[in-house]
Amino acid sequence: MRVDRFLSNLPQFNRQQVRLLLIEKRIQVDGQVISDPRHEIRAFSRIEFDGQILQAGKPARYFMLHKPPGCVSATQDPEHPTVLDLLNEPDQHELHIAGRLDFNTSGLMLITNDGQWSRHVTQPQTKMPKVYYVETEQEIGPEYISKFIEGVYFAFEDLTTQPAELELLGPCSARLSIVEGRYHQVKRMFGYFNNKVVLLHRESIGPLVLDSQLAPGEYRALSDQEIQLFQGPPAH
Ligand code: URA
Repeated sequence: MRVDRFLSNLPQFNRQQVRLLLIEKRIQVDGQVISDPRHEIRAFSRIEFDGQILQAGKPARYFMLHKPPGCVSATQDPEHPTVLDLLNEPDQHELHIAGRLDFNTSGLMLITNDGQWSRHVTQPQTKMPKVYYVETEQEIGPEYISKFIEGVYFAFEDLTTQPAELELLGPCSARLSIVEGRYHQVKRMFGYFNNKVVLLHRESIGPLVLDSQLAPGEYRALSDQEIQLFQGPPAH
Protein backbone atom coordinates (compact mmCIF):
# COMPACT_ATOMS: atom_id res chain seq x y z
CA MET A 1 0.00 0.00 0.00
CA ARG A 2 1.17 3.56 -0.72
CA VAL A 3 2.25 5.52 2.33
CA ASP A 4 -0.19 8.38 1.60
CA ARG A 5 -3.11 5.95 1.55
CA PHE A 6 -1.95 4.26 4.75
CA LEU A 7 -1.79 7.64 6.51
CA SER A 8 -5.13 8.91 5.13
CA ASN A 9 -6.80 5.75 6.39
CA LEU A 10 -5.82 6.66 9.95
CA PRO A 11 -8.49 8.58 11.88
CA GLN A 12 -6.11 11.36 12.89
CA PHE A 13 -5.16 12.65 9.40
CA ASN A 14 -7.03 13.84 6.37
CA ARG A 15 -5.56 13.81 2.86
CA GLN A 16 -4.38 17.41 2.94
CA GLN A 17 -2.63 16.90 6.27
CA VAL A 18 -0.98 13.77 4.90
CA ARG A 19 0.44 15.71 1.96
CA LEU A 20 1.85 18.30 4.35
CA LEU A 21 3.30 15.75 6.78
CA LEU A 22 5.20 14.16 3.93
CA ILE A 23 6.48 17.48 2.57
CA GLU A 24 7.55 18.51 6.07
CA LYS A 25 9.51 15.23 6.36
CA ARG A 26 7.72 14.16 9.53
CA ILE A 27 7.07 10.59 8.40
CA GLN A 28 9.64 7.83 8.77
CA VAL A 29 9.39 4.36 7.27
CA ASP A 30 11.81 1.82 8.67
CA GLY A 31 13.93 4.63 10.09
CA GLN A 32 14.10 6.67 6.88
CA VAL A 33 12.36 9.98 6.21
CA ILE A 34 9.87 9.50 3.38
CA SER A 35 8.43 12.40 1.41
CA ASP A 36 7.28 10.56 -1.72
CA PRO A 37 3.52 9.89 -1.31
CA ARG A 38 3.82 6.88 -3.65
CA HIS A 39 6.35 5.10 -1.43
CA GLU A 40 5.14 1.52 -0.96
CA ILE A 41 4.90 0.26 2.60
CA ARG A 42 4.47 -3.30 3.79
CA ALA A 43 2.99 -5.14 6.74
CA PHE A 44 6.55 -5.37 8.08
CA SER A 45 7.27 -1.65 7.78
CA ARG A 46 7.71 0.38 10.94
CA ILE A 47 5.97 3.73 10.43
CA GLU A 48 6.57 6.75 12.61
CA PHE A 49 5.20 10.30 12.77
CA ASP A 50 7.46 12.72 14.66
CA GLY A 51 8.91 9.65 16.36
CA GLN A 52 5.48 8.34 17.41
CA ILE A 53 4.84 4.80 16.22
CA LEU A 54 1.85 4.47 13.88
CA GLN A 55 2.60 0.88 12.89
CA ALA A 56 5.11 -1.20 14.81
CA GLY A 57 5.70 -3.63 11.96
CA LYS A 58 6.36 -7.31 12.34
CA PRO A 59 9.81 -8.75 12.16
CA ALA A 60 10.25 -10.32 8.76
CA ARG A 61 11.84 -13.78 8.91
CA TYR A 62 13.85 -15.59 6.27
CA PHE A 63 15.41 -19.07 6.38
CA MET A 64 17.30 -21.44 4.14
CA LEU A 65 16.64 -25.12 4.69
CA HIS A 66 18.43 -28.18 3.35
CA LYS A 67 15.35 -30.19 2.41
CA PRO A 68 15.93 -33.91 2.75
CA PRO A 69 14.20 -36.34 0.39
CA GLY A 70 10.99 -37.82 1.83
CA CYS A 71 9.25 -34.73 3.09
CA VAL A 72 6.51 -32.63 1.61
CA SER A 73 6.82 -29.00 0.51
CA ALA A 74 3.60 -27.98 2.17
CA THR A 75 2.55 -26.46 5.45
CA GLN A 76 0.44 -29.50 6.38
CA ASP A 77 0.18 -33.09 5.24
CA PRO A 78 -1.88 -35.90 6.78
CA GLU A 79 0.64 -38.64 5.92
CA HIS A 80 4.18 -37.32 5.65
CA PRO A 81 6.43 -34.89 7.50
CA THR A 82 6.47 -31.43 5.97
CA VAL A 83 9.40 -29.07 5.57
CA LEU A 84 7.84 -26.81 8.21
CA ASP A 85 7.99 -29.70 10.70
CA LEU A 86 11.78 -29.40 10.43
CA LEU A 87 11.70 -25.86 11.77
CA ASN A 88 11.59 -24.92 15.40
CA GLU A 89 10.35 -21.34 15.23
CA PRO A 90 7.63 -19.35 16.96
CA ASP A 91 4.44 -18.60 14.99
CA GLN A 92 5.35 -21.27 12.48
CA HIS A 93 1.94 -20.99 10.82
CA GLU A 94 2.95 -17.53 9.54
CA LEU A 95 5.75 -19.02 7.46
CA HIS A 96 5.49 -20.22 3.88
CA ILE A 97 7.73 -21.79 1.25
CA ALA A 98 9.22 -19.79 -1.62
CA GLY A 99 9.46 -22.39 -4.39
CA ARG A 100 8.39 -25.97 -3.77
CA LEU A 101 10.33 -29.17 -4.32
CA ASP A 102 8.94 -32.65 -4.98
CA PHE A 103 8.69 -35.22 -2.18
CA ASN A 104 11.97 -36.94 -3.12
CA THR A 105 13.89 -33.87 -4.26
CA SER A 106 16.48 -32.52 -1.83
CA GLY A 107 18.30 -29.23 -1.55
CA LEU A 108 17.83 -25.52 -1.10
CA MET A 109 14.46 -24.29 0.13
CA LEU A 110 13.63 -20.76 1.16
CA ILE A 111 11.08 -20.16 3.88
CA THR A 112 9.74 -16.80 4.99
CA ASN A 113 6.76 -14.83 6.27
CA ASP A 114 7.37 -12.06 3.69
CA GLY A 115 5.02 -12.60 0.76
CA GLN A 116 6.45 -9.80 -1.35
CA TRP A 117 9.95 -11.24 -1.01
CA SER A 118 8.86 -14.79 -1.88
CA ARG A 119 6.89 -13.51 -4.88
CA HIS A 120 10.05 -11.88 -6.15
CA VAL A 121 11.95 -15.15 -5.73
CA THR A 122 9.35 -17.29 -7.50
CA GLN A 123 7.56 -15.17 -10.10
CA PRO A 124 8.53 -16.23 -13.65
CA GLN A 125 9.18 -12.63 -14.78
CA THR A 126 12.15 -12.45 -12.40
CA LYS A 127 13.80 -15.29 -14.37
CA MET A 128 15.71 -16.40 -11.31
CA PRO A 129 17.93 -19.35 -12.34
CA LYS A 130 17.42 -22.49 -10.27
CA VAL A 131 20.30 -24.94 -10.50
CA TYR A 132 19.73 -28.68 -10.02
CA TYR A 133 22.10 -31.61 -9.80
CA VAL A 134 20.43 -34.49 -11.65
CA GLU A 135 21.04 -38.23 -11.90
CA THR A 136 19.16 -40.33 -14.41
CA GLU A 137 18.47 -43.98 -15.16
CA GLN A 138 19.90 -43.86 -18.70
CA GLU A 139 22.80 -42.01 -20.28
CA ILE A 140 22.44 -38.32 -20.99
CA GLY A 141 23.54 -37.48 -24.53
CA PRO A 142 24.74 -34.20 -26.05
CA GLU A 143 21.40 -33.88 -27.88
CA TYR A 144 19.85 -32.99 -24.51
CA ILE A 145 21.88 -29.78 -24.43
CA SER A 146 20.42 -28.38 -27.66
CA LYS A 147 16.91 -29.60 -26.86
CA PHE A 148 16.91 -27.91 -23.48
CA ILE A 149 18.19 -24.65 -25.01
CA GLU A 150 15.48 -24.87 -27.68
CA GLY A 151 12.80 -25.71 -25.09
CA VAL A 152 10.61 -28.72 -24.39
CA TYR A 153 6.92 -28.56 -25.26
CA PHE A 154 4.60 -29.26 -22.30
CA ALA A 155 1.23 -30.23 -23.79
CA PHE A 156 -0.71 -29.91 -20.54
CA GLU A 157 0.15 -26.22 -20.16
CA ASP A 158 0.52 -25.71 -23.95
CA LEU A 159 3.88 -24.00 -23.56
CA THR A 160 7.50 -24.48 -24.43
CA THR A 161 10.00 -24.25 -21.60
CA GLN A 162 12.39 -21.29 -21.51
CA PRO A 163 15.97 -21.94 -22.65
CA ALA A 164 17.75 -24.02 -20.02
CA GLU A 165 21.45 -24.70 -19.62
CA LEU A 166 22.65 -28.27 -19.22
CA GLU A 167 26.16 -29.24 -18.18
CA LEU A 168 27.05 -32.92 -18.57
CA LEU A 169 28.98 -34.22 -15.57
CA GLY A 170 29.05 -37.98 -16.15
CA PRO A 171 27.23 -40.58 -18.24
CA CYS A 172 24.10 -40.32 -16.07
CA SER A 173 24.63 -37.06 -14.20
CA ALA A 174 24.29 -33.41 -15.11
CA ARG A 175 23.69 -29.93 -13.78
CA LEU A 176 20.63 -28.13 -15.12
CA SER A 177 19.78 -24.46 -14.77
CA ILE A 178 16.17 -23.43 -15.38
CA VAL A 179 14.51 -20.04 -14.97
CA GLU A 180 10.96 -21.28 -14.39
CA GLY A 181 9.40 -23.55 -11.83
CA ARG A 182 6.77 -25.56 -13.70
CA TYR A 183 5.21 -28.62 -12.10
CA HIS A 184 7.79 -31.48 -12.10
CA GLN A 185 9.71 -29.42 -14.63
CA VAL A 186 13.10 -31.15 -14.50
CA LYS A 187 11.60 -34.65 -14.52
CA ARG A 188 9.37 -33.77 -17.45
CA MET A 189 12.27 -32.26 -19.41
CA PHE A 190 14.25 -35.49 -19.06
CA GLY A 191 10.98 -37.33 -19.70
CA TYR A 192 11.09 -35.92 -23.23
CA PHE A 193 13.93 -38.43 -23.78
CA ASN A 194 12.14 -41.12 -21.74
CA ASN A 195 14.93 -40.84 -19.24
CA LYS A 196 13.86 -41.17 -15.62
CA VAL A 197 15.32 -38.83 -13.01
CA VAL A 198 16.47 -40.93 -10.06
CA LEU A 199 18.07 -38.18 -7.98
CA LEU A 200 17.32 -34.47 -7.94
CA HIS A 201 18.96 -31.88 -5.73
CA ARG A 202 18.57 -28.08 -5.89
CA GLU A 203 21.93 -26.42 -5.39
CA SER A 204 21.01 -22.76 -5.76
CA ILE A 205 18.32 -20.20 -6.42
CA GLY A 206 19.62 -17.09 -8.18
CA PRO A 207 22.78 -15.96 -6.40
CA LEU A 208 22.00 -17.93 -3.24
CA VAL A 209 23.78 -21.28 -2.89
CA LEU A 210 22.80 -23.95 -0.35
CA ASP A 211 25.12 -23.62 2.65
CA SER A 212 27.41 -26.67 2.65
CA GLN A 213 27.43 -26.58 6.47
CA LEU A 214 23.75 -27.54 6.53
CA ALA A 215 23.12 -31.27 6.69
CA PRO A 216 19.83 -32.55 5.23
CA GLY A 217 17.03 -31.40 7.52
CA GLU A 218 19.02 -28.48 8.98
CA TYR A 219 18.26 -24.82 8.45
CA ARG A 220 19.52 -21.37 9.35
CA ALA A 221 18.37 -17.76 9.16
CA LEU A 222 19.48 -15.81 6.11
CA SER A 223 21.90 -12.95 6.64
CA ASP A 224 20.81 -9.38 5.79
CA GLN A 225 23.03 -9.53 2.73
CA GLU A 226 21.38 -12.75 1.53
CA ILE A 227 17.91 -11.26 2.05
CA GLN A 228 18.87 -8.20 0.00
CA LEU A 229 19.78 -10.44 -2.96
CA PHE A 230 16.05 -10.96 -3.55
CA GLN A 231 14.73 -7.58 -2.54
CA GLY A 232 13.92 -6.57 -6.11
CA PRO A 233 13.68 -3.01 -7.36
CA PRO A 234 13.30 -0.41 -4.61
CA ALA A 235 9.72 0.57 -3.77
CA HIS A 236 8.64 4.16 -4.61
N1 URA B 1 11.70 -30.18 -11.06
C1 URA B 1 11.18 -31.35 -10.68
O1 URA B 1 10.82 -32.19 -11.50
N2 URA B 1 11.07 -31.58 -9.36
C2 URA B 1 11.46 -30.70 -8.42
O2 URA B 1 11.33 -30.97 -7.23
C3 URA B 1 11.99 -29.47 -8.84
C4 URA B 1 12.10 -29.24 -10.17
